[in-house]
Amino acid sequence: MPAPRLLVLFGSQTGTAQDVAERLGREAQRRRLGCRVQALDSYAVANLIREPLVIFVCATTGQGDPPDNMKNFWRFIFRKNLPSTSLCQMDFAVVGLGDSAYAKFNFVAKKLHRRLLQLGGSALLPMCLGDDQHELGPDATIDPWLGDLWEKVLRLYPVPLDLPVIPPGVPLPSKFTLQFIQEAPNPGSKESCLASPESLGPPSESQPFLAPMVTNQRVTGPSHFQDVRLIEFDITDSGISFAPGDVVLIQPSNSAAHIQQFCQVLGLDPKQYFMLQPQELDVPCPPELPQPCSVWHLVSQYLDIASVPRRSFFELLACLSPHKLEREKLLELSSAQGQEDLCEYCSRPRRTILEVLCDFPHTAGAIPPDYLLDLIPQIRPRAFSIASSLLVHPGRLQILVAVVQYQTRLREPRRGLCSSWLASLDPEKGPVQVPLWVRPGGLAFPETPDTPVIMVGPGTGVAPFRAAVQERVAQGQTGNFLFFGCRWRDQDFYWAAEWQELEKRGCLTLVTAFSREQTLLPCRQGQKVYVQHRLRERGPLVWELLEHRGAYFYLAGNAKYMPADVTEALMSIFQEEGGLSHPSAATFLARLQRTLRFQTETWA
Ligand code: 2AM
Repeated sequence: MPAPRLLVLFGSQTGTAQDVAERLGREAQRRRLGCRVQALDSYAVANLIREPLVIFVCATTGQGDPPDNMKNFWRFIFRKNLPSTSLCQMDFAVVGLGDSAYAKFNFVAKKLHRRLLQLGGSALLPMCLGDDQHELGPDATIDPWLGDLWEKVLRLYPVPLDLPVIPPGVPLPSKFTLQFIQEAPNPGSKESCLASPESLGPPSESQPFLAPMVTNQRVTGPSHFQDVRLIEFDITDSGISFAPGDVVLIQPSNSAAHIQQFCQVLGLDPKQYFMLQPQELDVPCPPELPQPCSVWHLVSQYLDIASVPRRSFFELLACLSPHKLEREKLLELSSAQGQEDLCEYCSRPRRTILEVLCDFPHTAGAIPPDYLLDLIPQIRPRAFSIASSLLVHPGRLQILVAVVQYQTRLREPRRGLCSSWLASLDPEKGPVQVPLWVRPGGLAFPETPDTPVIMVGPGTGVAPFRAAVQERVAQGQTGNFLFFGCRWRDQDFYWAAEWQELEKRGCLTLVTAFSREQTLLPCRQGQKVYVQHRLRERGPLVWELLEHRGAYFYLAGNAKYMPADVTEALMSIFQEEGGLSHPSAATFLARLQRTLRFQTETWA
């Protein structure tokens, strides 16, 4: 039987699943198997009934949720009226990307695998469950699985012998060509394909709104180690609307210093313009890039040179390298045996693409520009919980941003691309515009006037609750309980005056935990006080609200230990105050989750 066109469909939030999907595409191309790689939501899902061979690569995000770019597919595939023979012509395999630190590890991949079987599909292989927690990353599981996959696929669909495999050291053709042009476009034409206020429909990823930044104010005290900003945007006439719990997506840019350095090591002229042309008919040009586009624009808005490179980057770079020593090193770092070295060189110290290119100058200087889009991933938008209510701040959108900066063994501190870029913008020095759009977040609040809400948000986790409290108070909703934790009341107690004012008016019950000021008395001297301790102290009230008054419970903030610690405190309250056994407490919690009365929004 001739080889069918293999279809690889991905659902990716942070880019890892997309990276794996693209790797599958490249490996198929080397084996001369026809292959398409597409995001699940950009694929016409009704055609699935005609596909003979599909590999699904799906990440699991949040609390077991599918990524944004497969949400429509997810709704479709779980429709009740799909016949159980819908996919009986399809051979499929599922690769999951997840994190075993979360309870719902690879939930999306597992649920999808079951559903595809239910719809009549035949699984080529057992699922492959990649794990972020694995020391060598998800590849540790994916590598051997891919070996099995190709063996199985090529046995079922042998490739004609006259088509030799493209060996690993030879580069595959680039996806695009960059044709440099002599003249710059008309000086009047704007080099931007971002939405102007009069464009149709609400702003979205393909058409962000260029929001003027109104304020950018440090809200942590001068002696606090962390720089946290309260940033306000003007969204008047943008068509943007939101409710408490929604998030704003922001598309950051690279810094001017990084753009210049990148152009220098690659020998590119940032002022030069080019036209982009796809090499294959069914691959469209990225809609985010104008035509013609300047090198400066490409590097500043599109190429994620500040991200930590993945293995595929080293694979392609090795193929493109004309320098013997550098090529050998790159080949080693991209080999299966070199993964520990790669982890030591890149992932652990968080070395960036730009830094790697500076370490391999002979290779960097010889990269054909056509390969830039194959080599370097696209800058992804970052999500922030919206911290204001439109009822209290009409035409405005506020966020609370912790500027990410930390030290690894590398001399230069590591900086978060988006938070550092936002922090660097100063609306007092001149107009500043930020591309953004809004989408529903993981938190939704009850609309009934007297349903109590218990909100637990230490640190910047309080941001979505600021929006909720403002909105609820403006609407006259009562029963607002906020547990807030920070280090010192005079350094990082965000919106202290606002909360105190609401307390005075009887609209809010605020409970605070100042971890560097107070300790637990008297028996556990020296132990820090966190929100979960305060929650347990108020155990009888929390139980009364949840058991008898139908309260909703919300948790937001740092994903590391806090969510598990707070959940454990709740479990003890159910046992101590409610007299439940451990299994009954777990059932009670599961029921709250199922009925959306326990909701969380956490971030790394
Ligand atoms: P710490 O930095 O003193 O340890 C906001 O970051 C607040 O959350 C700080 O007071 C911080 O305390 C606290 N915090 C740190 N780990 C926590 C955890 N596991 N549970 C709850 N709060 C925590």
